[in-house]
Amino acid sequence: MAQLICRTAQTSDAQLYFNWANDPDTRRQSFNTNPISLETHTAWFTRKLTDANTLLLIFFNEMKQAVGQVRFERTPVADMPDEIIIGISVDARQRGKGMATPLIQQGCAVCRKQWGAVSIHAYIKADNQASIRAFERAGFVLSGESGKFDTPSLLYINSQ
Ligand SMILES: CC(C)(COP(=O)(O)OP(=O)(O)OC[C@H]1O[C@@H](n2cnc3c(N)ncnc32)[C@H](O)[C@@H]1OP(=O)(O)O)[C@@H](O)C(=O)NCCC(=O)NCCS
Repeated sequence: MAQLICRTAQTSDAQLYFNWANDPDTRRQSFNTNPISLETHTAWFTRKLTDANTLLLIFFNEMKQAVGQVRFERTPVADMPDEIIIGISVDARQRGKGMATPLIQQGCAVCRKQWGAVSIHAYIKADNQASIRAFERAGFVLSGESGKFDTPSLLYINSQ
């Protein structure tokens, strides 16, 4: 399995996250499919870096190349007050190498170290086969269909 090093994101990662966020596949598989402006991104990223309910993890390979990111968000909203949502993207040049599953697994371990024995939810569009495979391999189980984010998706849960 790929040896990956992970750390929390920092201010100097803003441009990298901006590039990743506007990757065409990432936008297509997101719930807001519109391109993101630099201004919107900068405000969002600055806020998230210091948000106690957000965990931004960035992963590097042995050659110290940034290969992807995993994000966890605690969303204290009425329907599921303790919900923790995971999101992932792998750098387009690094896709297809089987790195998504280790990213998810290592990310979940860091998340639980910080936030305890939480259950983690992934909302995935039904046509995103690579993501579905990666989350299944990481031990996520299909819970059902969801209309959260106003777009049909599949909810996968990892309760450990
Ligand atoms: C989804 C994503 C993280 C997967 O990472 P990846 O590097 O492409 O995938 P991996 O190489 O780790 O492969 C994961 C699994 O998907 C399969 N897979 C990869 N690309 C695929 C494709 N285009 N279609 C179907 N299956 C695919 C792999 O064979 C593997 O399954 P296996 O373990 O049974 O062989 C990556 O494609 C990505 O960043 N996409 C854009 C953002 C995104 O969709 N994020 C997830 C939102 S829920």
